[in-house]
Amino acid sequence: ILVESVVTSSNDSLRDLLTQGSLPAGYAVIAEAQTEGRGRRGKRWFSPFGCNLYISVYWPIAEGINGAMGLSLVAGLSLVKALEQLGVSNAGVKWPNDVYIDNQKVAGILVELESNTDGSANSIIGIGLNLAMPESTGSQIDQRWTDLRSQLSKPVSRNVISGCIYREVVAGLNEFDNNGLQWTRQQWPRYDVYFNEPVTLTMGQRSVTGICRGIDENGAVLLETNGNTVRYFGGEISLRAT
Ligand code: ATP
Ligand code: BTN
Repeated sequence: ILVESVVTSSNDSLRDLLTQGSLPAGYAVIAEAQTEGRGRRGKRWFSPFGCNLYISVYWPIAEGINGAMGLSLVAGLSLVKALEQLGVSNAGVKWPNDVYIDNQKVAGILVELESNTDGSANSIIGIGLNLAMPESTGSQIDQRWTDLRSQLSKPVSRNVISGCIYREVVAGLNEFDNNGLQWTRQQWPRYDVYFNEPVTLTMGQRSVTGICRGIDENGAVLLETNGNTVRYFGGEISLRAT
């Protein structure tokens, strides 16, 4: 694990290292701050110095980009498992890449992929987790958010939290390598914040409303509308409670 001070984005730092030579699976970059922390579709990820966790993990995918579907679900669920071990009992996942505690966003995941000439792919799994967000930054976030400090009854060291999260994420990725999304699908209904709830799914200009029925074997979200269950997958899709 390489610990950096201020970076543009820990995903960028890891990508730069990958262009310089091969890295072992599970190699990670942790940064104290990001000047250009990002979420999906170029949204900003607020990343103030010295108080939260910004970590990017390298994971090679032998089958190529198509074999990487569902990686953000694996990482999100692994993160929730780590939070449980740290004493947070009510964390849940929101398809495809967010972790919530009581309706407040505590973490986000950004998976970035690139293909290699041999058909394999590199994945960079970036995780931002709020630990002790300063109010001056938190007040700029345009949705409900929380941090671990306000969810835990006693202080836990940042190193312990980082170690626990890293261990669970790598365990989840190894499980994914061995058995695909089997474990993730089995756990998902218990932790999905919208499971069996009415939701609206938006894809650019288009939106569809229905009941969220979890995920399929490829990690697509399942939406039941008028008795039909349809699967949706893609980087442009957002889910909201109806
Ligand atoms: P969706 O992925 O469904 O579109 P989203 O609106 O949360 O959901 P993301 O790209 O997942 O979009 O995350 C980026 C958003 O997260 C930002 O637009 C902002 O609302 C919020 N956000 C940014 N930084 C933080 C942070 N440190 N903690 C919590 N929320 C944040
Ligand atoms: C989201 O909610 O859309 C995903 C947010 C992901 C933030 C993490 S912080 C570490 C890594 N570096 C980034 O620039 N983004 C991810």
